[in-house]
Amino acid sequence: MAYNLLQGKKGIIFGALDEKSIAWKVALKAKEEGATFVLSNAPIAMRMGAINQLAETCEAEVIPADATSLEDLENLFSKSMEVLDGKLDFVLHSIGMSPNVRKKKSYGDLNYDWFLKTLDISGLSFHKVMQTAEKLDAMNEWGSILALTYIAAQRTFPDYSDMAQAKSVLESIARSYGYRFAKSKKVRVNTISQSPTMTTAGTGVGGFDAFFDYAHKMSPLGNAPAEDCANYVITMFSDLTRMVTMQNLMHDGGFSSSGITEDIIADLKKS
Ligand code: NAI
Repeated sequence: MAYNLLQGKKGIIFGALDEKSIAWKVALKAKEEGATFVLSNAPIAMRMGAINQLAETCEAEVIPADATSLEDLENLFSKSMEVLDGKLDFVLHSIGMSPNVRKKKSYGDLNYDWFLKTLDISGLSFHKVMQTAEKLDAMNEWGSILALTYIAAQRTFPDYSDMAQAKSVLESIARSYGYRFAKSKKVRVNTISQSPTMTTAGTGVGGFDAFFDYAHKMSPLGNAPAEDCANYVITMFSDLTRMVTMQNLMHDGGFSSSGITEDIIADLKKS
């Protein structure tokens, strides 16, 4: 059911790789709720071509941008304002990648060039997105900017490796830029900390299946599905959440507040 929550709003959605992507589900919901937007992803991700199907369904233009490249981002924001005929009301940063995780490097044997790449792609790029938006005066007042994060920013999950540091950087940038953007433009900036989700980025983390099951059993409501994450993103883009800013918002079925659960106890008793 649609509520017209984003009627007349314009934005950019980064990170829809395939139909499992959280950004993909956000795009479908944003369309349903009346938004118009541009889809963006790294030029290399375009080769898979799936984003073009989404673009057709959403009647959206696709503008490639490597989120670590200021040049690409400037081009993306200026072209988006042309295509959408005006400034933006929302931006979703749904981007994450670690070469160390991808190449299964152990945490005691990290490649530091790759570590810097992880930080750049998964953390710093959020700053670059907002700095570009600010310099080009691309945001409307009361706009909303969101990035997706994971609880490994606060607690250790061994296989998450250097992505944990990237997520800490990302969340810290949301607070610092959130302050700045609130003062200058009344734009709000938040991160949503999502449950483990079966996507390309998620399943790339070692031992993901066990990780997923454990989190599910440790969450009184179970793991939050990608679809519900998309619903939460939509409410955060809507005018219903205008005064929420500089927050790391848990969307995890209660995982982050649970010490132990009956499901985990039952499993331990079995073994
Ligand atoms: P996904 O693999 O579908 O999306 C990740 C996206 O990042 C892809 O579209 C990829 O092309 C894009 N990307 C990578 N490098 C890029 C670059 N240089 N420039 C622009 N885009 C680039 O996976 P998912 O799960 O939808 O990931 C979206 C966000 O959600 C990420 O920030 C991820 O860390 C976060 N998240 C995912 C969880 C999970 O378990 N899947 C849990 C919590 C947060």
